[in-house]
Amino acid sequence: MRATTGIPAQGYARRRRQLMRMAGEEAILVLPSAPERVRSRDTHYPYRQDSDLWYLTGFAEPEAVLVLVPGRRHGEALLFCRERDPEREGWDGPRAGPEGAVEGFGMDDAYPIDDLDEILPGLLEGRTRVYYHFGRDTEFDLKLIGWLNRVRAQVRMGAQPPHEFLELGHLLDEMRLFKSRDELKLMRRAAKISVQAHEAAMRAARPGVYEYELQAELERVFRAADAQPAYESIVGAGANACVLHYRANRGQTRDGDLVLIDAGAEYRGYAADITRTFPANGRFTREQRALHDLVCAAQAAALAQARPGVAYEAGHHAAVETLTEGLLRLGLLKGRLEKAIADGQYKRYYRHKTGHWLGLDVHDVGDYRIDGESRLLEPGMVFTIEPGLYVPADDTTVPAKWRGIGIRIEDDVAITADGHEVLTEGLARDAGEIEAFMAGR
Ligand code: GLY
Ligand code: MN
Ligand code: MN
Repeated sequence: MRATTGIPAQGYARRRRQLMRMAGEEAILVLPSAPERVRSRDTHYPYRQDSDLWYLTGFAEPEAVLVLVPGRRHGEALLFCRERDPEREGWDGPRAGPEGAVEGFGMDDAYPIDDLDEILPGLLEGRTRVYYHFGRDTEFDLKLIGWLNRVRAQVRMGAQPPHEFLELGHLLDEMRLFKSRDELKLMRRAAKISVQAHEAAMRAARPGVYEYELQAELERVFRAADAQPAYESIVGAGANACVLHYRANRGQTRDGDLVLIDAGAEYRGYAADITRTFPANGRFTREQRALHDLVCAAQAAALAQARPGVAYEAGHHAAVETLTEGLLRLGLLKGRLEKAIADGQYKRYYRHKTGHWLGLDVHDVGDYRIDGESRLLEPGMVFTIEPGLYVPADDTTVPAKWRGIGIRIEDDVAITADGHEVLTEGLARDAGEIEAFMAGR
């Protein structure tokens, strides 16, 4: 029995086969589940499966290890997992058990996790290359070294220990970077839920509302759609919007404040990531609108670069140029455009990059540069476009009217065969659309 993950069992099998084909017959691949983290005594932090293991199995339980042994005659895909245990299942819920791992998850074979110590050295023996994510889970790193040493101790008896250790991410990250049709469906769903959540928060906004009240609106919509936050929701009113990873969400909104909300749902493991910035009272001031228009123009400039064959970094360069031009026009920066860009003067007000890959992780895996050059966009890649401007409240180099304004606009984009699809389409974005939405609530 398996819970629905939105990906058919054959989909996971296909991913495992592709990964094994790339790794080759001499290899063995070892992927442990995410560790459970104790919060206090017998209370744990919410459990979230390791994204790599999830990508290859859809198996949600802790205390599991996937071992892929390409070309092994007695089975290539092996899962070590917890055994059934009616007493424990009465406390924590059902377990698949090794039988369920074979029947429900398409494994060639499965064993109790307690047998890992005994079985893994034998699987390592005779394989030349080990693919593993070193350094993610120190406790597991040490166990793996222990199993390797057990094989090494048998060399005089003819055992052949692996002698190449490779970063699993080299193969797996590239696979995860390109989203399949099924994955895009889940990402559209995560995006849609997030759009509805932002609309609920905008509807609830008014001067005097607390940031946590807006957070509650967002997360109510997530949970009502069987989703959860993909990362801690950021709700920053007034100058709190200038703190890039603001998470306290305890401030009270004042009349005349902008509210920046950066929040996205995780649905079946896939993240959305949206930011909108809107006036608590429904109307932008002249300065707020000038900066909002500018960030919106920067986002449009970056979006115009989102098509196959264009360098990933072209979007960032387009956004930086638009923002710098505007900052000079509005008098927040002085001098010539080329120099303001070359010297990075814009970084006073724009400190981050214009986006990141998006998928099972909100900051998803995948190289941005190859051989020192920005990689080119290809169909199936999904990323955010999120320019912003943040004028610190204590920046006395600019007139007071600009101070404490923080704005970011973030949408999620998938590259298609001939252009792009904005997954987060439909949510009011520019100042006019936001004012119209808030007037019509
Ligand atoms: N929400 C995190 C980010 O926008 O990158
Ligand atoms: Mn983002
Ligand atoms: Mn974000």
